[in-house]
Amino acid sequence: MFHIAIDGPAGSGKSTIAKSIAGILGCKYLDSGAIYRIIGYHMTKKNIPLKKSQEFTEELKNVKIEVKNDKYYLFDEEINEQIRKKESGMYASEVAKIGEVRDKVNSILRSISSKMSTVIDGRDIGTVVLPDAEFKIFLTASPEERARRRFCELREKNISAEYDEVLKEINERDAADTLRNLAPLRPAEDSVTIDTTSLSVEDVVGRIKRYVEEKKQ
Ligand code: CDP
Repeated sequence: MFHIAIDGPAGSGKSTIAKSIAGILGCKYLDSGAIYRIIGYHMTKKNIPLKKSQEFTEELKNVKIEVKNDKYYLFDEEINEQIRKKESGMYASEVAKIGEVRDKVNSILRSISSKMSTVIDGRDIGTVVLPDAEFKIFLTASPEERARRRFCELREKNISAEYDEVLKEINERDAADTLRNLAPLRPAEDSVTIDTTSLSVEDVVGRIKRYVEEKKQ
């Protein structure tokens, strides 16, 4: 069994790359951001402010989240499109500042990783969730390139967006994620950083494959 941590900011290509690597190596892909998004979505739907409070803590205890066959479930209902809206990333970033939320997400990720090989993407996988992961990659790209990618993704899904607005959101989320006290976004000391600004998906996947093969020997 082995584990691969892929961390980095929004739009650095984590999910595309992580999915592809998991497919090539035949292990399970876990999207940690999706779980933060589900919690943000659920609390917002229930009109519970996204900050630490007794009401929030109580509701968090009741929230049932499951990952089955690469699908994410909230109280037995499959969740996907609902958490891919423009505002969902910011909601996720808000709940991600709360320690109890992080504990809940981490226990879901660790419980699955204790049973099988996983590739997990996120912000703190190599630093906090799986500090003993055998392979750690930190993906980056310029904010403008990341905003361009996110903008194209939204357009493909027919979600209307302005490039400037997407760039602003990327910059705000970068600030929230790197400056927070709990598990801030940063490369693990034993990670390899890949700047993907001018690399294709195939280039990045190739580099990670080589890194894994070399390190395995
Ligand atoms: O796909 P994208 O990179 O835009 O976002 P995501 O991975 O779905 O994560 C959404 C938000 O959840 C991030 O901006 C973080 O605030 C938070 N998050 C986190 O704190 N720790 C993780 N391991 C994953 C996500």
